[in-house]
Amino acid sequence: MKSIPKIELHLHLEGGAPPAFIRGIAKEKGTDLSRIFREDGSYSYKDFWHFLKVYEAATSVLTTPEDYARLTRAVLEESAENGVVYSETFISPDFCGGGDVAAWREYLHAMEETAAKAEVELGITLRGIITCIRHFGPEKAKPIAECAAQTKGSFITGFGIAGDELIGKPKDYLWAFDCAREAGLRLTAHAGEWGGAESVRDAIRDLNVERIGHGVQAITDLALVDEIAEAGITLECCPGSNVFLGVFPTWREHPIETLRERGVKVTVSTDDPPFFHTTMSAEYDRLADTFGWDEEIFDEINANALAAAFCDEDTKDRVAKKLKKGT
Ligand code: ADE
Ligand code: ZN
Repeated sequence: MKSIPKIELHLHLEGGAPPAFIRGIAKEKGTDLSRIFREDGSYSYKDFWHFLKVYEAATSVLTTPEDYARLTRAVLEESAENGVVYSETFISPDFCGGGDVAAWREYLHAMEETAAKAEVELGITLRGIITCIRHFGPEKAKPIAECAAQTKGSFITGFGIAGDELIGKPKDYLWAFDCAREAGLRLTAHAGEWGGAESVRDAIRDLNVERIGHGVQAITDLALVDEIAEAGITLECCPGSNVFLGVFPTWREHPIETLRERGVKVTVSTDDPPFFHTTMSAEYDRLADTFGWDEEIFDEINANALAAAFCDEDTKDRVAKKLKKGT
């Protein structure tokens, strides 16, 4: 599966940090982070909410634009190794200058420069989606949206929201989403991972997003599934993440195949790969084993992802050529 060219739309940048990378930076800075690692070196947490805390603890050692440049390179190397030719990553200015636009620009410059170099050296194209964090609250989301609006360009193409979906409502973040929309950014929101179908309905209705991160809980409301299919809203599905965190008990019970059969545009991503012991190749392997997905279906999934990608048309054309070359 490694050699099949792939598109990934849902990858949190810090969530892609290999544990050894975070340990190395913690050591350089003299920070003791041993509590967030198991003896075998992997990240240690007990459930989704604890995962968010461990994620933020790991992120706390990334304090400079140079750290983010190194992180970007490490994440892109891993993605390219797994055949990813185009990737969209969630980046949170909360962790990169705390919402100050001037500081954010420095972090962004470091990441963009690294991505441009990696594109030449590794053959993978990266775009960024600025993400506010739901459990930090709506007021904190406002400067994040302003960072997004002021740095929209060929690299920063979208705006979204991640974090604990069970806190507050999508409409609490309307100001931030309106600010990003008015700046011309494309929109996505995490919903229907831990919240129910209603959470997906609220995000679509109140934030007017064109993609949903996860969205898989829509499966409990088939009328909503049909609305999603009809509206052409793309779901950024992350089945390995959902199964690892216990959203669904097994791969067999994951609704990605039912959603696809019912006409929803589904895509496949890893979310936070080292945290969930997955890679894009592993996701493809499990989908082939569980649902009998073959080359034709993976082509359909990548076509869905390319159509829903937030980059410009020239970039899409270049990526489309890479997808074709792989077949
Ligand atoms: N941030 C990083 N990973 C996340 C996930 N799976 N859900 C919500 N927020 C996240
Ligand atoms: Zn996510």
